[in-house]
Amino acid sequence: VHVASPADAEGLLPLFRDFYGKHLESKGVASIRRNLETAASVDTVLLALADGSPAGFASLRLLPQIETGRTHAELSDLFVDAGHRRRGIGRQLMQAAEDLARKRGASRIVLTVGADNRRARAFYRALGYRDFGVATAKRLEARP
Ligand SMILES: CC(C)(COP(=O)(O)OP(=O)(O)OC[C@H]1O[C@@H](n2cnc3c(N)ncnc32)[C@H](O)[C@@H]1OP(=O)(O)O)[C@@H](O)C(=O)NCCC(=O)NCCS
Repeated sequence: VHVASPADAEGLLPLFRDFYGKHLESKGVASIRRNLETAASVDTVLLALADGSPAGFASLRLLPQIETGRTHAELSDLFVDAGHRRRGIGRQLMQAAEDLARKRGASRIVLTVGADNRRARAFYRALGYRDFGVATAKRLEARP
């Protein structure tokens, strides 16, 4: 597992395609590279290689927190290629994310997981994550 740089955009593209599917707006290597550069100050992408090939990624958002002055750490995404699951890659990605968050001064990691995503919920639970709230969202329609 290593911190992805814009040079990893090509390796990330197939993983992004599988994970984000039709929601993927960055359709090419150049736009992924650009997005990595733009997000670099707040979002760190961790890339896992298996036998030298991209097998999974995690992204960790680190933000300053007003009330404590410490760092708020939020796992924004996690994906392991279907052919590489149940081999500990997800666990290694989370270990790297936790190490990074700790190093940057965070005292916990929060994340949102789909209520019906049983596999991911079992995974996070096995790693020691516990539910603590309800996520809520509102779609913002474009205003003319
Ligand atoms: C969730 C995900 C990242 C797990 O990755 P992984 O590399 O398969 O996980 P690991 O092999 O490191 O599993 C670690 C532990 O988590 C638990 N776990 C993982 N997958 C599980 C499953 N399908 N069912 C039950 N427990 C599971 C097990 O305790 C496992 O340890 P074990 O294999 O020794 O029993 C992967 O299934 C994935 O990419 N899913 C699709 C994307 C997704 O839902 N991402 C999360 C978005 S919030």
